Amino acid sequence: MVPFVAIVLAAGQGTRMKSATPKVLHSLAGRPLVAYPLRAAFEAGAAHAVLVTSGDPALAAAVISGFPEGKLTVVTQSPPRGTGDGARIALEALPEGTERVLILYGDTPLIRAQDLGELVAALDRAPRPDLSVMTCRVAQPKGYGRALRDAEGRLVEIREERDLRSADERAVDEVNAGLYAARVEPLRSAIRRLTPDNSQGEYYLTDAVKLLGVGRSVAVLGHSDALRGVNDRAQLHAAEELMFERIRERHAVSGVTFRGDPRVDDTVEIGEDAVIEAGVRLRGQTRIGRGAQIDVGAVLDDVEVGDAVSIRAYSVLRASVVRAEAQIGPFSHLRPESEIGEGAHIGNFVEVKKTRVARGAKANHLAYLGDGEIGEKANIGAGTIFCNYDGFAKHRTVVGAEAFIGSDSQLVAPVTIGKGAYVATGTTVTKDVPDDALAIGRTKQENKEGYASRLRGRLKVKKGS
Ligand code: UD1
Ligand code: MG
Repeated sequence: MVPFVAIVLAAGQGTRMKSATPKVLHSLAGRPLVAYPLRAAFEAGAAHAVLVTSGDPALAAAVISGFPEGKLTVVTQSPPRGTGDGARIALEALPEGTERVLILYGDTPLIRAQDLGELVAALDRAPRPDLSVMTCRVAQPKGYGRALRDAEGRLVEIREERDLRSADERAVDEVNAGLYAARVEPLRSAIRRLTPDNSQGEYYLTDAVKLLGVGRSVAVLGHSDALRGVNDRAQLHAAEELMFERIRERHAVSGVTFRGDPRVDDTVEIGEDAVIEAGVRLRGQTRIGRGAQIDVGAVLDDVEVGDAVSIRAYSVLRASVVRAEAQIGPFSHLRPESEIGEGAHIGNFVEVKKTRVARGAKANHLAYLGDGEIGEKANIGAGTIFCNYDGFAKHRTVVGAEAFIGSDSQLVAPVTIGKGAYVATGTTVTKDVPDDALAIGRTKQENKEGYASRLRGRLKVKKGS
């Protein structure tokens, strides 16, 4: 195959998105929209890519980071005067000696590498055209450029919706998907001759078909998913749902069980035999180990989950690590920089922040563990609070291995509970507790025999009066 360079057009704000964020930077399944066509182009074999943007530095930064160094050139088109004008600018930035280009729009995230390969290959098939255009047949052609053919069925022009002249033209159901392969020199010459004499006053890349002349362009019929351009938020939502479906399919064939409709970002990795239940949301750099179970409604952002971990229903985890065989939830909250050791248990209504919980330790019910260090096999009772904040600074709580913290205790940081120490239920710990010591800090209980009925009698009289 003759080497080719990909051009991805991603300039313009995308006014139909009604957003302060440029269209192609909107997130779709965890990546900016524009990352998908770029990736597809490289997968299809592009030797290099030229990305046309409006000069937004955030865009360049967001995109470049994910691609091989030196293989992506970012150029600025300002103001955006149409797709033809964008292509002209990109052609000026091609690496020396480039003979062929593949042109994609930055707002078509569902395009696949195999479809692009077809388009490039068409340049070498009879009639060896200068330009191949991907088209699709659709039930609702409205809004797309129509592929107009002559009596012999040859592609003669692509005409935009607003410029259609008759009901017959409007009825044409073969539309331009916005993907092209071309020989550089003929394309360059056609683009030089573009004029903005259309309803939008823009330079249309699609006019190259007409300018190259009959027989020099061919239409390659593609899958209609290729066409799903994202122009507004409704289309963004539809495209993202399709992408989530694809992602589930990809993991499912590599051994992951899905139930219902969990949504997994494109960036997430999942090991074999993991089970992901309905309503789960896995985002960012999340990695799920083999055989892990992620139950209904769990939300994980940038979380590393070890093998055979169980994340129970409705737990929320961020930027944390959960080691093998640990159990989290239901209804647990892991905030950033938490690390839950092998086989440790974090139960319902436990909030953990910036705390290391060592192997086999347990905090099974209702606790706040912030800025702490919990030793192996320590047991944190229900209602325990690490009082980590004095209104000005955060302080650390250290609980030694095999220590036992009785229910409803407050550990006022900075404080250290020694190894194997015992904190009696209801104690407010303000001083360090030595290894193996018992800390008890509560008033002694006194029982007054028969007092309850006397008390009730008194209260009754009072109420009656
Ligand atoms: C375009 C096609 C239309 C096709 C449709 C498929 C043209 C003239 N029309 O219409 O035939 O059916 O895509 O989705 O090409 N862009 C630039 N610079 C510009 C203008 C646009 O880089 O000056 C980029 C945009 O970021 C976008 C892409 O080009 O990613 C397409 O532009 P858009 O305005 O979405 O074109 P459509 O109206 O969708
Ligand atoms: Mg579009």
